[in-house]
Amino acid sequence: MKHLMSPLDLSLEELDQLLDLAGDIEKNPTKYAHACEGKKLATLFYEPSTRTRLSHEAAMLNLGGSIMGFSSANSSSAAKGETVSDTVQTVGCYADIIAMRHPKEGAPMVAAKRSPIPIINAGDGGHHHPTQTLTDLLTIRSLKGRLDNLTIGLCGDLKFGRTVHSLIQAMSRYENVNFILISPEELRLPSFIRVDVLEKNNIPYKEVVTLEDAMAELDILYMTRVQKERFFNEEDYIRMKDFYILDNAKMELAKEDMFVLHPLPRVNEIAVEVDDDPRAAYFRQVQYGVYVRMALILTLLDIHVA
Ligand code: NCD
Repeated sequence: MKHLMSPLDLSLEELDQLLDLAGDIEKNPTKYAHACEGKKLATLFYEPSTRTRLSHEAAMLNLGGSIMGFSSANSSSAAKGETVSDTVQTVGCYADIIAMRHPKEGAPMVAAKRSPIPIINAGDGGHHHPTQTLTDLLTIRSLKGRLDNLTIGLCGDLKFGRTVHSLIQAMSRYENVNFILISPEELRLPSFIRVDVLEKNNIPYKEVVTLEDAMAELDILYMTRVQKERFFNEEDYIRMKDFYILDNAKMELAKEDMFVLHPLPRVNEIAVEVDDDPRAAYFRQVQYGVYVRMALILTLLDIHVA
């Protein structure tokens, strides 16, 4: 049985197959409409979410399956002190697959050790968010036609932003990918990614503080929100929260075929005026997230549609 805990759990070949499957689902949705009939997805969310929980649910519903779950720790037995291991052994009696989000780094991995059914890590603290990365990869591949030979700028909270950590890890497996890391000093990429992924593998990157210093070079700009809930004090958050605001004036510095991605939710880091720019791809990215999660559910449940 397979779980999805980190973006490297899939080999490049498996990843290619999964993205191809997502592409086929996009083209022929009716072919997959009954593929998961009789199957149940449980979403166990100990942390807030809109897209990640609802897109897993939409994915299972689109496949003809059913959904159950909870959307906050307070409404589950976690509030009584139950461990994630006990919870998944219980949910394994009700459902066929679990998507779990947890504020503690590593919690889904602990749960997976005792789980009788596949678990998808839907975000663990400031660590990883592999299904967002699958979404990002499908979006980039669909928009640019490739996952290699790209200069990718990641902007904002690179310290706590788990989507950034997972995306860099995944993209660092492709040829000739350069990273420009755009953040204030306090929110730099942590060493478990900067040193252990980028430096150890000799992947070219540079760190800059302003968007203006990077815009002209980028093929993809990945904007992120400052992760308020992971700050230790409110003052630091207030000082950082509006550090970057992408607006039309900054978009003028970018290539015609550059695309802006954002895992969402957006706070102030992208001005609403940018939404009308054809290079703004963050709502298309949301749609890709459903196709890729449909492909992931089919893959983990080992269901093949002829
Ligand atoms: C991200 C997350 O939860 O890490 N959201 C998402 O899943 N699309 C990004 C964020 O919350 O800033």
